[in-house]
Amino acid sequence: MTDAPQPDEAALVAAAWQARTSAICTYSGFAVGAALRDAEGRVWTGANVENASYTLGLCAERVAIFWALTHGARDFTHVVVVTDTARPTSPCGACRQILVEFAPKAQVVMVAREGEPLRLSVAELVPHAFDDAALGRG
Ligand code: THU
Repeated sequence: MTDAPQPDEAALVAAAWQARTSAICTYSGFAVGAALRDAEGRVWTGANVENASYTLGLCAERVAIFWALTHGARDFTHVVVVTDTARPTSPCGACRQILVEFAPKAQVVMVAREGEPLRLSVAELVPHAFDDAALGRG
C-alpha cells in the first residue's frame, strides 16, 4: 500500500468531485467521479454513464481513461475515484483490466465522503494480471 499523499493530490480529488456532478446514473443512483493525471501533468476526468440497457453503461474510470487516451494522453501517474460513500470505492474488475493496460504504473486513490483515502498501486489491485506479456508481446 502506498500511503503517502502525492503533491497536488487535492487538486486531482477536487477535479474528480467536480466530474462526479456530471454522472448519468439514472438506474443505480450511484454517482462516481474519476480524475487522472498524465505524464505531462494534465488532468483528465470522467463520470459514469448508464443506459436503459444496463450492460451498456460505462464506469467513470473508463470514461476518463478513454477520453484521455483518445486525446493523446499516456503514462498516467494517478487515478482518483470519488464516491459519496462511507468507505472508498475501488474500481470494478473491467476497469482494473483497463488500468493494467493503460495505467500500469499509476497510483489509484479511492476517496469516500470522509476519512483517509485508500491508496493502492495498480499492481496491488491486480496481482498476477493478464497483460501484453502474457501474449508474448511485452
Ligand atoms: N461504477 C463506477 O463508475 N466506478 C466504479 O469504480 C464502481 C462502479 C459505476 C458503474 C455503475 O454506473 C454504478 O457505478 C453502479 O455500479
